[in-house]
Amino acid sequence: MINPATDRVLITGAAGAIGTALRDGLRADWRHLRLTDVKSIANPTPNEECVVADVADRTAIERMMQDVAAVVYMTGVGGDYTLEDLFRVNVRGMFDVFEAARLAGVQRIVYASSNHAFGCYPIEERVSPALPPRPDSLYGTFKAWGETMLRCYFDRHGIRSVSLRIGTYRKLPIDQRSLATWLSPGDVARLVDAALRHPDPGCLVVNGYSANTRIKTFDPNWEFLGYHPRDNAEDHREMLRGMGVDVDGPWEWPEHGGSHARAPERPARR
Ligand SMILES: NC(=O)c1ccc[n+]([C@@H]2O[C@H](COP(=O)([O-])OP(=O)(O)OC[C@H]3O[C@@H](n4cnc5c(N)ncnc54)[C@H](O)[C@@H]3O)[C@@H](O)[C@H]2O)c1
Repeated sequence: MINPATDRVLITGAAGAIGTALRDGLRADWRHLRLTDVKSIANPTPNEECVVADVADRTAIERMMQDVAAVVYMTGVGGDYTLEDLFRVNVRGMFDVFEAARLAGVQRIVYASSNHAFGCYPIEERVSPALPPRPDSLYGTFKAWGETMLRCYFDRHGIRSVSLRIGTYRKLPIDQRSLATWLSPGDVARLVDAALRHPDPGCLVVNGYSANTRIKTFDPNWEFLGYHPRDNAEDHREMLRGMGVDVDGPWEWPEHGGSHARAPERPARR
């Protein structure tokens, strides 16, 4: 168990959407938070120590690992990105943070993986994290690689980890698909809190969703981890209906990855 009163936790990507939700949800109990991002981090409280650095700066990353018990890795590019950015941040940056953590003796890594690590499974299949990854994109492929790297760190170095296959993190659900895949700000903080406090998660992969009525996956690891989500996208169905979202019609996407699994192929790199 990582001790909220005494252990230092490093949150990367702390200026981002999820990083901000984690700060809001964790800072009352977790007394020693170190936050890092390439962007400046707004309004730190006395128990939050900020380090502005690019994930490509290995020296800075090694320095910020000192006296850290656990890393919560939320850095990443998503949405619109160039191939170079994807390699620089989601591959090389992740590698450098994981390696620096290992070399510094960090005990636990909580990692922002994604539902796109299994996005090519047909939507009718109630996928659990026990099944092999089926990424729907290069983005999802690299998320699965992060999970694999943590598997190796557990087997070779005993580093405990929890990979979170995050669905759709937003303040509120945004479309029909997110009625199944939404992860609320309160629940992402509860999930990370459980991942840090668990006495021994081993090398665990869990889905990162709220308690959505329309959830299309199956995850026994929630119980094991002690993750008890409290929010449900269905409570926002009428808001979505008011926005013109087809909340009653047939499911829009044939695969778990939604539009990612149907996106046009990236042109070949020359
Ligand atoms: N939001 C979602 O629905 C969702 C779903 C699945 C997975 N994820 C993953 O969760 C993580 C956090 O997502 P988010 O929604 O908060 O994204 P976000 O873009 O809001 O936050 C990512 C943070 O990473 C930082 N970052 C990017 N490049 C960097 C670099 N070179 N050096 C240092 N920091 C850098 C950004 O400044 C940003 O603050 C990401 O890894 C993302 O892939 C998010």
